[in-house]
Amino acid sequence: MRLDIIAALPRFFDSVFDNAIYRRSVQAGLIQVNVHDLRDYGIGTYRQIDDYAYGGSAGMVLMAQPLSQCIESLKAQVSYDEIIYLTPDGSVFNQTEANRLSLQQNLLLICGHYKGIDHRIRDHYVTREISIGDYVLSGGELAAAVLTDAILRLIPGIMGDESSALSDSHQDSLLSPPVYTRPADFNGMKVPDVLLSGNDKLIREWQHEQAIERTRARRPDLWENWKDG
Ligand code: 6GU
Repeated sequence: MRLDIIAALPRFFDSVFDNAIYRRSVQAGLIQVNVHDLRDYGIGTYRQIDDYAYGGSAGMVLMAQPLSQCIESLKAQVSYDEIIYLTPDGSVFNQTEANRLSLQQNLLLICGHYKGIDHRIRDHYVTREISIGDYVLSGGELAAAVLTDAILRLIPGIMGDESSALSDSHQDSLLSPPVYTRPADFNGMKVPDVLLSGNDKLIREWQHEQAIERTRARRPDLWENWKDG
């Protein structure tokens, strides 16, 4: 997968991609991520990228021209499956969407800032608008990092143990069962007997029951869906 990210704060992503899993995936040719500094396409000596909103509402808006030039220069090299704008008024991101996006070849992410981006960019270029939840962040960079992590870890070969991505919370619309590691007795607190039984069938059954019960108790909304689906 090739992922391009347009951001006003490109340095934000330095730490996001500073890890061994990511570096190995790049080396193996599984993913390629390019972060583009919107200011490189800024206007004039000051490389302006934002301006006051028409109509006098408070806050700055990312201008159409720098964004358009950046997108056009990328589109001249890459054919994107989706051009995604990260925005609190987008549709709420979930595992189904992460799965779907992980199957794409080329994605372009646009990080908004301040009061957002000139709406003509959304109308003209953006194919999908995504929010990561019902709260407001100061910029789209953090949301893009969340989206990127959720998507990239699903690409085969990226995580060490591929089966582990499949058993995540939400992957089958249920939350994960509890997990334990050694010792079996920690200060008198014991690991459930069934996990030490060596009986694989019983263990899977117990994990499935736990997943259902935890989902019912913690996320009745997910449980209702699971029960009916
Ligand atoms: Cl994608 N952007 C911003 N600025 N805030 C958010 C968001 C995105 N998703 C939830 N809150």
